[in-house]
Amino acid sequence: MENTTGHQFPKQNIKGSSKAVLVTGGAGYVGSHTCKMLVKNGYVPVTVDRHFREGLVLFGPNYNLNLPQEMDRLDEIIKRYDITSCIHFAGSTSVPESVANPSLYYKNNLILTVSLLDKLIECGVKTFVYSSSAATYGDPGLNKCKESDVCKPINSYGATKLMMEQVCRDYKTAYGLSSVGLRYFNAAGADPEGDVGELRENETHIVPLAIDAARHGRTFKIFGDKYNTKDGTCVRDYVHVMDLADAHIKALNYASQNQVAEVFNLGSGAPASNKELLDAVQKHTGKMNIEMHDNRPGDPAYLVADISKVKEILEWEPTHSSIDNVVSTAVQWYNKTHKKEIQ
Ligand code: UFG
Repeated sequence: MENTTGHQFPKQNIKGSSKAVLVTGGAGYVGSHTCKMLVKNGYVPVTVDRHFREGLVLFGPNYNLNLPQEMDRLDEIIKRYDITSCIHFAGSTSVPESVANPSLYYKNNLILTVSLLDKLIECGVKTFVYSSSAATYGDPGLNKCKESDVCKPINSYGATKLMMEQVCRDYKTAYGLSSVGLRYFNAAGADPEGDVGELRENETHIVPLAIDAARHGRTFKIFGDKYNTKDGTCVRDYVHVMDLADAHIKALNYASQNQVAEVFNLGSGAPASNKELLDAVQKHTGKMNIEMHDNRPGDPAYLVADISKVKEILEWEPTHSSIDNVVSTAVQWYNKTHKKEIQ
């Protein structure tokens, strides 16, 4: 077994530790921040990912693995580190891409999760925390979303995440899997220490795209200004990625101490419209040129979390998620990773 990217922990110290956690997609955006948080909390994240990007600090052992094709390589990794729990981030995460290419989403989100769970059960790993999404709610109108609401996803991304939740409930009943699904609202911001941040090849998210447009003097396109919202642009609930990372630790502890199949909203509960978000970005980048465009297919008007359940049960509070902190840490990360371009 090759440990392709090196790690900071001597193997002999990890063997026998129940603190080792398998992290699929641990080199991605939320995954990398969670790995850093796992280390801070005394866990050893063992990352499997198909793609390691330059510029991100790695925490814990990591393996370059293509799932589900190389699923059988997990047997040895799980044995080697005595892994008893898994945090699952691997999957596809773009709403517009899921509208254009649903096949990819059913394969990368649903089928991959089912085969991963089968492997975990086979290896005796029964504690599972996974990324779900606010996209499960669909287009809920101008109400804050509660976990008890009926979910009617309006794109394949949301549909696959809702199906993953159902799979986890069925696997609890049949195989004793204990799981927590975390319905992220709009993940944004970056590690304030600059070790990890948002780094994608094809970016579609508003915060990094707006910073990039401002830094390059390009016009930024807002998709739709005729929604039934206070200023006509879509409203979202931005939650800082460090708060998300912290929630994964709490979810992991909860799922390992209880026999559950639960889902929780993770948002700040503080709505911002696209126009307000761009105002916040411009405070840090200076003025940018903005144009109004048609709606983007698959976009709900208003998506904001009711976070009372996660506050009560996991005792989680978002403490980094003011819109200014979200934007300023994202700008700091952008400046670090685009030093050459913006000088
Ligand atoms: N937007 C623009 N211009 C752009 C890019 C985005 O106006 O160039 C707008 C979108 O139309 C939307 C808002 O910015 O109104 C936020 O869009 P993002 O692409 O940043 O994020 P989404 O709301 O589409 O997606 C996020 C998460 C998903 C989650 C989804 C729920 O990334 O994981 O919320 O709808 F599923």
